[in-house]
Amino acid sequence: VQHVNENHARVCQSPEWAAYLQDEVLGPLLANVDLGAQLLELGPGPGAATDWLRHRVDRLVALESDAEAAAKLAARFGGTNVEVVVGDATALDYPAASFDSVGSFTMLHHVPTLAQQHAVLAESARVLRPGGVLVGSDSLASASLHEFHADDVYNPIDPAILLTLLRGLGFAELTVHLGHALSFVARTQGPDREAGRGEDDA
Ligand SMILES: C[S@@+](CC[C@H](N)C(=O)[O-])C[C@H]1O[C@@H](n2cnc3c(N)ncnc32)[C@H](O)[C@@H]1O
Repeated sequence: VQHVNENHARVCQSPEWAAYLQDEVLGPLLANVDLGAQLLELGPGPGAATDWLRHRVDRLVALESDAEAAAKLAARFGGTNVEVVVGDATALDYPAASFDSVGSFTMLHHVPTLAQQHAVLAESARVLRPGGVLVGSDSLASASLHEFHADDVYNPIDPAILLTLLRGLGFAELTVHLGHALSFVARTQGPDREAGRGEDDA
C-alpha cells in the first residue's frame, strides 16, 4: 500500500487545508447537490472532507487503502455516523447500487495509472444506485504540485480525459468545473429514464 509523503501528512491534516476544502471546494460544489442517505467516500486520508460530508448524510462509509490512516480516522470519528473501512477503491467490495452517492477528494492523483483511475470511476458507477451521484475534486497538474509529491505518486488526471471516461461509463449528467482545482458532479442514469419509458412519446 502506497503511503502519502510527509508533505501530505503535514498539509492534509492542517486546519487550513480543511477550511480550504470545506469552504472553497465542497461548499460551492455541493450547494445544490442532494447526496442522499448513504455516501461512500474514497481516500478520506485524515478526514478533512469526511467531517463536512458526514453532516449531509445518514451514513458515511470512508474507504481508505492506508491501514494506519484508516485507524486514525476510525479513532477520530468513533461513535459518529462514519464507518471507516480499509479497502481499495479500484476494486470495491460492495454490490451494485449500494450507495446514493460516492465522493473522492484530492485522491485521484494518488492513483498511479490511468487504468486504475478508470477502475476507481467504474467501481463508483457500479456501486451507485440509478440516479446516484459521484462528486469529487482534485488538484490540477502544476510544477509546484509535482515538487510537493517528491517520492510519491503524482498522476493528476487531465480534465478532458476525466470527462471522456465519465461519459464512457454512462454518467448521464455531468458538470466538470475548472478553477484553482478540478471539481465534478456526475449523475448516473436515473430510474425514470430506463428503457421502455417514453415509448409512447414517439
Ligand atoms: C491526499 S489524500 C486526500 C485526503 C482527503 N480526501 C482530503 O482531500 O483531504 C489521498 C488519500 O487517498 C488514499 N488512497 C490512494 N489510493 C487509494 C485507493 N486505491 N483506495 C482507497 N484509498 C486510496 C491515500 O491513502 C490517501 O489517504
